[in-house]
Formats: sequence, structure tokens, C-alpha cells
Amino acid sequence: MDKFLIRGGKPLSGKISVSGAKNSALPCLAAPLLTSETVILHNVPYVKDLITQRRLLEDLGATVLTPELRTHKVTAANIEIFEAPYELVKTMRASVLALGPLLARFGKAKVSLPGGCAIGTRPIDLHLKAFEKLGAQVSIESGDVIARAPNGRLIGAVVDFEKVTVTGTENVLMAAALAKGKTTIRNAACEPEIADLAELLNKMGARIRGAGTPTIEIEGVEQLGGAEHTIIPDRIETGTFLVAGAITGGELEVKDCEPQHLRAVIEKMREAGVEIEELNQSTLLVRRNQTGLKASDVSTEPHPHFPTDMQAQFMALMTQAEGTSTITETIFENRFMHASELIRLGAKIDISGNTAKVHGKSALMGAPVLASDLRASASIVLAGLAASGETVVDRVYHIDRGYENIVRKLRTVGADIVRITDQLTMSAGEEV
Ligand code: EPZ
Repeated sequence: MDKFLIRGGKPLSGKISVSGAKNSALPCLAAPLLTSETVILHNVPYVKDLITQRRLLEDLGATVLTPELRTHKVTAANIEIFEAPYELVKTMRASVLALGPLLARFGKAKVSLPGGCAIGTRPIDLHLKAFEKLGAQVSIESGDVIARAPNGRLIGAVVDFEKVTVTGTENVLMAAALAKGKTTIRNAACEPEIADLAELLNKMGARIRGAGTPTIEIEGVEQLGGAEHTIIPDRIETGTFLVAGAITGGELEVKDCEPQHLRAVIEKMREAGVEIEELNQSTLLVRRNQTGLKASDVSTEPHPHFPTDMQAQFMALMTQAEGTSTITETIFENRFMHASELIRLGAKIDISGNTAKVHGKSALMGAPVLASDLRASASIVLAGLAASGETVVDRVYHIDRGYENIVRKLRTVGADIVRITDQLTMSAGEEV
């Protein structure tokens, strides 16, 4: 398994670019299943999860052409299989996003029930309840979700989510676009990725209003057509790079980002003593101010509040702040796996239930550490960049799932990081 070798303690400086949003590209790549016409997506990040999503589409019978690495031309004209198998779903739970489009267009779908993952049990009960609200018959058989629309078509309805769910909202949005009549989603997720998906669906001929707010209204249409769409920048990658600049005491220009999408993160980092300047609509300049970092409390919540996907990276930053920060994780029940690895690097962190107390400022020292999930791996890479000496991060396949060319990007701004591949060959520049 690949590892990263990081020699830390160097302030990062220069320009670093943000790729397209993984969590928007995943649902946007499922949306072409709703039509037989071609959908063209630009700014698709070249990360493992999107390669898996592409494979799922091809296994279902769609064609996916990539005239350029980050442009996908998807045509789902000859869908013969209506099943997302366990082999794929177990590697990427977002495969569940095929359920809504297949059910809506073909009246049937079979998707393996995603198991739990490192950060929590993550059930999809709310997705299934919503499909039943739209008239589907849903059963679980041998670990698979079997869903059928009795008259071959879903019926519009009011879907009231008892809990905010991002992919749940996206699945219902895609299903309702082809349902008969009107659907209203209440307590919908408001993440920017939802509005991006809705923008694509409306370009395909859907009638969606209110995406990005807690109440979304969808007038179902008979059929959808082709479209061309550019995926929004990845706000979590943006936040990760902002922390990289601050935690190393460097000065970074984070380009091709959308500052609007991570207001809560920017505010919280400014509160902690980080200077973040908007150079223009798509560029942020980050540096630590003279007085250094100070402890700040944070609690994760659905958008527009502080995102759970930035919790681990912010914890790493708080290990370098004066004072004690309290970090509360309210979305996932097991999302502190990175804390024990940060402690291995010399951080002082006490965990109790869903709260972590980070006692700063700690002098971090390089050590071998283990990645457990996507954002945890980002957190320990950031800490490794701030630590003195060498840090070896194992199981970096987690970070490859959601960060495009992270070694190359960090090296362009002065990080001393290399990927050690299985063949024991050290490759500085090239990324797989
Ligand atoms: C999306 O996951 C993101 N993934 C996650 O990003 C992100 O952490 C999460 O939203 C929260 O922002 C993608 O978009 C592909 P949820 P999702 O449904 O949709 C519970 C990353 O690092 N719940 O909003 O799966 C659930 O267990 C990933 O890029 C139910 O109980 O998350 C959780 O506690 C990690 N039943 C909460 O709701 C359901 O049917 C929010 O989950 C659905 C969810």
C-alpha cells in the first residue's frame, strides 16, 4: 500500500489550485441515468471515487467518454442492468445515488445496502422512506435494496426529512424530477452540492425551485434531455489548503475556489487568528497573523454551518493554537479516528463522547501514522507538514479517494512530501 513520507516544519508558499467538488461530481455523474441523451460534465476531479462512479455507470450499460481528463461525456441510452452490486457499493457508499435515477426512469432498481464505514453506521433508511413516500415498494433482500414503482412511475409527494441528509436529498431530487406531479422536500440539505445538482437537472429540463434552501419544490416532467455543466470547486479541498497555509505558518494563494461556499470555515479560522483575504471571486490568500493561533471552539452542523468534513483538519490546526479548543462532532458518531494519530505526533487531545478537547500549543514531532478515512488522512498529512522530522502516513488510498494529485499540489508550494509506492520506488513528481 502506498505511503506518504513528509519532512515537516517548512512554511508553504505560492499558488495552489482547487479541483472540482467530489461531492457534487458524484451525484452529477448519476444524473445522466435519468435520460437517454448525452450529458457533458466539466471540472470532474480525477479522484478514486469518481473512477468508481464511472465504473458503476459503465457496468449499468452507459457509455462514459473522457475527451479530456476532467470532462465526462455520459450517455445512458442502453441501460440493461438496474443494479449497483455489493462489490462496488462496499468501496463507495455514494453508489446509492444510482437508486433514485434508476427507479424514476425505469421503475425498478436494485442497490446493495451500504454497510457502515469508519466514521459511523450511516444508514440509508431516510432515503428508502422517501422513495416509499413517492409511491415505491421497497424491500431489503439478502443485503440488497429492491425498489419498484408499481405503475412504472413514481408519484410526487411531500417528503419531510426527519434529519438533514445530503445524499438523501440528492436521491429524492433526481427521483422527483421524473415523478408524476409535484414533490416538496422539507428539511432538505442546503449544501452547495445540492444546488449544483439542481442546476444540472434544470439544464436537463427538470423544474426544480428552492435548491440550497430547506424547502425544495419539484414539478415532475415526462422526460429529461441532455445538458452541459461545470462542477463547482471543492469547498473541502479549499478548506484543507487554507489549513495547510495556516498550520505551516506560510502564505498560500488558494485559486479556483468559491469563497461563498465555506463562509463558516473562513469565519472560524479568522476567529482562531488566521488571516484570510479574498483576492478576487475565486482566490483566497491565507497566512497566520503575527500573534499566532488561539484556541477556538467549533461544533459541526449541516450547511451553512461548520462542515463535519473540515472537523479533522481544524483539529490538526488547533493543536498549534494557544489554549484549549472544544470540538463537537454532531453529524457522525465515530469521527475522531484522527485524534489518536495526532496524539502519536505529540498533540494533547482528550476525547469524551462526541467532544474533543485539544490542548494547544503542542510541538509536533514526526512519527509513523495510519489513515483511517478520507478527512482523517488529510488531518494527519497537515499535522505532518507542521511537525519537525519525518512523518510516514500509511494507507493513503483513503486520501486518493477525494484529493486530486495532493502530493504534486503540495510540492508546488514547497512541501517536502513524497509518495512511496508498493514498488518501493520513491516518485517525487508523478502521481498515479
Ligand atoms: C454526505 O454524506 C457527504 N458525502 C459526506 O462527505 C459528508 O460528511 C456528509 O454528507 C455530511 O455533510 C457525499 O456527498 C458523497 P448524510 P451522506 O446523509 O449524504 C444520518 C467526505 O468526506 N442518516 O447527510 O452519506 C447519517 O448517519 C464524505 O467527502 C441517517 O440516519 O451524509 C449521519 O449521521 C464523508 N439515515 C447524518 O444523517 C439516512 O438515511 C448525515 O448524513 C441518511 C443519513
